[in-house]
Amino acid sequence: MATEMVKTEENYDHLKEVKRFDDSKTGVKGLVDSGLSTIPRFFIHPPHVLSGLKPNPTAIRPQSNPIPTVDLSNIDSPTTQSTVVDQLKRACGEFGFFQIVNHGVPVDLLDRMIAAVKDFHEQPTEAKESFYSRSGKAVQFFSNVDLFHSKAASWRDTLQMRLGPELPNLEEVPEMIRRAIVEWNQEIKRLGEVLMELLCEGLGVNPGRLKEMTFLDGRVMVGHYYPYCPQPDLTVGITSHTDPGVLTVLLQSQVGGLQIKHDGEWLDVKPIPGALVINVGDIFQIMSNEEYKSVEHRVLANSLDEPRVSIAVFFNPTARENLYGPFPELISPEKPAIYRQFQYIDYLTRFFTKELDGKSLTNFYKL
Ligand code: OGA
Ligand code: NI
Repeated sequence: MATEMVKTEENYDHLKEVKRFDDSKTGVKGLVDSGLSTIPRFFIHPPHVLSGLKPNPTAIRPQSNPIPTVDLSNIDSPTTQSTVVDQLKRACGEFGFFQIVNHGVPVDLLDRMIAAVKDFHEQPTEAKESFYSRSGKAVQFFSNVDLFHSKAASWRDTLQMRLGPELPNLEEVPEMIRRAIVEWNQEIKRLGEVLMELLCEGLGVNPGRLKEMTFLDGRVMVGHYYPYCPQPDLTVGITSHTDPGVLTVLLQSQVGGLQIKHDGEWLDVKPIPGALVINVGDIFQIMSNEEYKSVEHRVLANSLDEPRVSIAVFFNPTARENLYGPFPELISPEKPAIYRQFQYIDYLTRFFTKELDGKSLTNFYKL
């Protein structure tokens, strides 16, 4: 028995299995539809990841949602605005995450986007396999962005789309998303600009600074689908990682699973109807010289029949050759720069040739 196990171990070819899965173009949704009751071995994460999925029994978990929720109504009034700026500043410094309500994005649009992404993923494989790609096309469908760079795969599929500077031709966009995407793109660009202004205000830098640096233009959307997983204790929905870009706007359906790391503990980001989740990306942590934190987060594998759907928009700069580093006005003898300058293209190349993981990239640019 023991020798047999060793033999299996030796004969197992991770890359071959992963490649077969990728070539099938079915995604994890296709595996679920085939009726499997155990997950393929390349989805099983190592023990240190799996043991970290269990809640710490000694931790007293508060019932309420500890991640701040900020109300963006009336931000045009100067008094409300300065309160909101303070709340956002505190949230970015302490949690790196917050939720927003009364953000002006119509609730029916949120619902339509979730429904459209869900409908895309729930088509038969034959209908979506023509989108399956990792080549960097404007619209692409794949399972696991880091499939060929990670030690274990995760239980989710993704529809990725360029939103900025311009949307792709609508003929290239899956039909069920065409109508909603035009409105969504406008709303998210507007909201992104508002948030960038408020967050710059919080740092004491010119509110238009991030827009000038082209951070509104490089918008990329990912529409994730986390289907039911038959062995949710053996894998995850998305491994612990931090986001690229300056900030991320995330719409999640009402099926939970998103967690953030705070003081060494994992906290749930509980879905709030009509809310959007915002988080600080690596580049903002660097540019703010760590006044804002890009925090590790993950999604648990979905144990419910109801699939979990989420839509994230990342704000990257289109000026990729320019140098990015801490804002000079935040640097002083008392607060020296924590990071060196680098080109965004260097950051992106490193991001896409590694496993989704914790803080390795920001640490790489540390002085
Ligand atoms: C991401 C991410 C979280 C989610 O796409 O970077 O963290 O809820 N997604 O899907
Ligand atoms: Ni993320």
